[in-house]
Amino acid sequence: MTRSLFDETPTPYGAPEAIAPGAVLLRGFACPVADALAQSVKQVIAAAPLRHLVTPGGHTMSVAMCNCGALGWTSCRSGYRYSRTDPLSGQPWPAMPGCFLAIAVRAAAEAGFDNFRPDACLINRYEPGARMSLHQDRDEGDMTAPIVSVSLGLPAVFLFGSGQRSDRPARYRLAHGDVVVWGGPSRLAFHGVAPLADGDHAQLGRQRINLTFRCAG
Ligand code: SIN
Ligand code: FE2
Repeated sequence: MTRSLFDETPTPYGAPEAIAPGAVLLRGFACPVADALAQSVKQVIAAAPLRHLVTPGGHTMSVAMCNCGALGWTSCRSGYRYSRTDPLSGQPWPAMPGCFLAIAVRAAAEAGFDNFRPDACLINRYEPGARMSLHQDRDEGDMTAPIVSVSLGLPAVFLFGSGQRSDRPARYRLAHGDVVVWGGPSRLAFHGVAPLADGDHAQLGRQRINLTFRCAG
């Protein structure tokens, strides 16, 4: 069956789809726990509000972010870094909810990465038009651990390339409940998100939430 880009029916969880060496797309893998994840996102952002960070180049990101877990990724004029505290409050980031950790560990194992124990979860909120330009996740302390990315809400076009910025990335539609895991030879693959198309998701409304789990420390 061919699925149209506009088909909103949730994909039943099927076989892991290899998208590159060490990179796997698990369609619908988080669907059974999506409501619990969305509820926990609300609790985390009540304690650590989503904010638009400024890059070292002085550009304000269109994606709003916050973190949970022992370490949180932040950006400011002086650079990118992981921090134990939220620069807005000076307090530790909210603890990683149990349902976050559980789905991340299960997805990593499904993709062939056993013993994944993330200490950081970046929460990205895309409103229509928001995008993330091609980048590598390279601020983490443990490059042997994969990145686990969980998508909720409006569908997005995920761009996934190689370790070279000049290689044209492939495009994948990520819908509510889809999970991507990349590690090993793909750990430093360039990736990004095309501008989010407008829409109204039944559970999440006019937004896409993405959770990326990392071993940062
Ligand atoms: C990221 O690279 O941090 C986010 C990827 C995504 O939103 O799918
Ligand atoms: Fe990333």
